[in-house]
Amino acid sequence: MNRIHNFSAGPGVLPLEVLEEARDEMLSYKDAGASVIEISHRSRQYTEIADSATQLLKGLLGLGDDWNVLFLQGGASMQFYQVPLNFLGPDNVADYVDTGAWSKKAIAEAGAVGRVHIAATSAEAGYSEIPEAEEWKITDDAVYLHYTSNNTIFGTQYHFRPPTDVALVCDASSDFLCRPTNTSGHGLIYAGAQKNLGPAGVTVVLVNNSFLETRKKELPSMLDYGTHVSKLFNTPPVFAVYLVEKVLRWLHGLGGLEAMETRNVEKAAVLYERIDRNDFYRGTATTDSRSLMNVTFRLPSEELEADFIKEAMDAGLAALKGHRSVGGIRASIYNACDPSSVAVLVSFMDEFENANG
Ligand SMILES: Cc1ncc(COP(=O)(O)O)c(C=O)c1O
Repeated sequence: MNRIHNFSAGPGVLPLEVLEEARDEMLSYKDAGASVIEISHRSRQYTEIADSATQLLKGLLGLGDDWNVLFLQGGASMQFYQVPLNFLGPDNVADYVDTGAWSKKAIAEAGAVGRVHIAATSAEAGYSEIPEAEEWKITDDAVYLHYTSNNTIFGTQYHFRPPTDVALVCDASSDFLCRPTNTSGHGLIYAGAQKNLGPAGVTVVLVNNSFLETRKKELPSMLDYGTHVSKLFNTPPVFAVYLVEKVLRWLHGLGGLEAMETRNVEKAAVLYERIDRNDFYRGTATTDSRSLMNVTFRLPSEELEADFIKEAMDAGLAALKGHRSVGGIRASIYNACDPSSVAVLVSFMDEFENANG
């Protein structure tokens, strides 16, 4: 078996142990005599999996009883609409921070529901940074402030807490569980699983009770967070949740979020140090906004970038092409990306520069 060094932005690399365990359990999960995708979502076995995933998540993030963990479908993109549908009433305003493509999509969906105020934007800087906290224009009575903690396409990430007292809503799709998270002040956090947490098909939503109580009445059942808090309303994405539970156990076994942060900071530092060494490679994000998860950079020309991507692929380094909307190179180094893959990438970057610099 020849596995690539996988730098895919999502769906992204998963821990090998998790895949091996799932393979071994594929024909019969524990005593079920069937795989987990062939048994009821109300079976003892699946209930234990979902409970375990919930407890592991709460443990990793230090969440108390006032938090609910939901495993929903529809991707993070569904959350762009579901959040305002639940919380943005006709007489309210919601603050949004515009840090690039994904936050723009969230803003567009909220705009279809109600009034949106852009508290800050880094559009003028080409989304190369997180807008400085001092520049934000906060609405004091906003029903929530929505921000995107990591901008997958532009390679930027928050390294400070949004400066507001209103309830925070966070799209954490591309940096969920990459480091300890201060959840205080948050009403809701959501993350599509397919980058740091598992396969596509499940979106983890953490919603705080006091925020949940502020939601609108008479919502469609499936889109009302309250429905999913109160019961297992419909068939959840069982295979995705099963894998998420395994990834959470893996994370726990590695030492939890502090250990993961140390590992992620080290991986990113090695890569940024290589980029910064001279002018051949050029990081696209402002230094203090750089992402630990998506490392974006350019080469001296688009031709060299195309050669870099192709030669890297030939060397077993996959999915380094930047997002089609921005070009350049993007190395996504999510939790499950092994430090050894980053070391191989850095060696390749050295060789490529020696041959073309
Ligand atoms: C930060 C962020 N938010 C939202 C999304 C959309 O997620 P989904 O495809 O699960 O709807 C993505 C996908 O890459 C993302 O990176």
